[in-house]
Amino acid sequence: MNRFIFVTIASLGILIGLASCGNEAYYGYTVRNGIAVYNTPDRPADQISMIGFTTEPIDTVKVGVIGLGMRGYSAVERFTYIEGVEITALCDIVPERVERTQNILVRHGLSPAAGYDGEDAWKELCERDDIDLVYIVTDWKMHTPMAVYAMEHGKHVAIEVPAATSIAECWQLVNTAEKTRRHCMMLENCVYDFFELTTLNMAQHGLFGEVIHAEGAYIHNLDPYWKNYYEGWRYEFNKNHRGDVYPTHGLGPACQVLNIHRGDKMNTLVSMDTKAFNGLKVAEQFGETEYANGDHTITLIQTEKGKIIEIQHNVVTPRPYNRMYQVEGTEGFANKYPNEGYSIRTEGCKTDEHKALDDLTGSASDGEAYLSTEARDALMEQYKHPIIRDIEEKAKQVGGHGGMDFIMDYRLIYCLNNGLPLDQDVYDAAEWSCLGELTRVSIENGNIPVVMPDFTRGDWNKLDGYKHAIAE
Ligand SMILES: NC(=O)c1ccc[n+]([C@@H]2O[C@H](COP(=O)([O-])OP(=O)(O)OC[C@H]3O[C@@H](n4cnc5c(N)ncnc54)[C@H](O)[C@@H]3O)[C@@H](O)[C@H]2O)c1
Repeated sequence: MNRFIFVTIASLGILIGLASCGNEAYYGYTVRNGIAVYNTPDRPADQISMIGFTTEPIDTVKVGVIGLGMRGYSAVERFTYIEGVEITALCDIVPERVERTQNILVRHGLSPAAGYDGEDAWKELCERDDIDLVYIVTDWKMHTPMAVYAMEHGKHVAIEVPAATSIAECWQLVNTAEKTRRHCMMLENCVYDFFELTTLNMAQHGLFGEVIHAEGAYIHNLDPYWKNYYEGWRYEFNKNHRGDVYPTHGLGPACQVLNIHRGDKMNTLVSMDTKAFNGLKVAEQFGETEYANGDHTITLIQTEKGKIIEIQHNVVTPRPYNRMYQVEGTEGFANKYPNEGYSIRTEGCKTDEHKALDDLTGSASDGEAYLSTEARDALMEQYKHPIIRDIEEKAKQVGGHGGMDFIMDYRLIYCLNNGLPLDQDVYDAAEWSCLGELTRVSIENGNIPVVMPDFTRGDWNKLDGYKHAIAE
């Protein structure tokens, strides 16, 4: 085709495309000087920021659960141990999964819930008027469509990790929550693990000085589990996507300790992956020969206040489970894997916390060695997070990853019962989930820096530090 005619037709196409978009916000990126810059569209006039959002207290939170596979089934079991909550509806594509989950309720002497099965039955669940909270535990691709529909039908939503699989979906969650004024919490459970909560409490008491760097990861060999997911959804997603597709377990605790969108914000990331060496062996299990996701993906994120987060993802090589959680500050250091430990410099430090630590260990420390096991245990007891102090025994008894899953559900219901802001808001859900697309864009463009969108649209500095809300 003549080059002039081609260029004219292409330009017309772009113009028609732009015109048909009308006032649609642009959620994509442009590459400028070798940097991918994501757009942060203005907040539409009919939306209000969800920072610090609360609703009237709900005495008994009525819950509808969608997705009753491995994770959803155990979530229903956990709810039976929590007061102030009632399971009103259950839904899964597979009828037997609804039935076996009803048995949990019966076993605990509770009334059976309304049951829904089939591909689109979840919509009917969302349309019921006796549900306050829709709890979504399906495969990743359905998380955002289901959450948006539920919020549009007046429900608060809790969504398993990651809440969204693309930047467009992250914005859909933010926009819908802001428009409908409904809570949208991602169910990131690792922020409730005992070590992470206790370390957060220590950081908030200044034991590490200024926290300057945090690390996190999801390193878990899924070899024994690939075929357990419904119709192989997890394999399908990893087969088709490069980048850190499961970033939130590592990123959540790191963001809380660094006060992300409570005084600091993530600005730019760079990501790299290995080739899919073992990934191709996973593909072989499914009789296929292609696999996009690199075996190991590493991402560095720089924050507005000059701090760094490192996040890793690896679900295919044989090595021990590791979430890598580390916190580094100007005066101290915390490490979770493989051995939990702290090193803290008290020499020359004048805070009450550091003096108390000297009393505990018997001398000042230069911080270059881990505290002894006894000193560590005593320190952890002293700084045990108030939430853990409250429900440790019950959490350990009910379990779910050692108790953190129970604490997560307990806190969700507690905050709704008391009309408090939730521990994780819709901006956390978007910020922690957005790494999926952003890391892919960095990697696919030769590991270029990616400037992240600001889902709070400038409100990241309105709150002063991360806090868990507690009823008066
Ligand atoms: N936070 C954690 O520690 C943790 C642990 C495991 C899984 N998860 C998350 O939980 C979610 C579910 O994982 P899983 O391991 O239970 O997977 P799974 O495949 O066992 O369960 C998914 C369930 O969703 C159902 N489903 C799919 N489409 C549906 C639809 N249209 N309507 C109703 N039901 C539908 C499937 O039938 C299946 O029962 C995922 O998002 C996963 O990332 C989180």
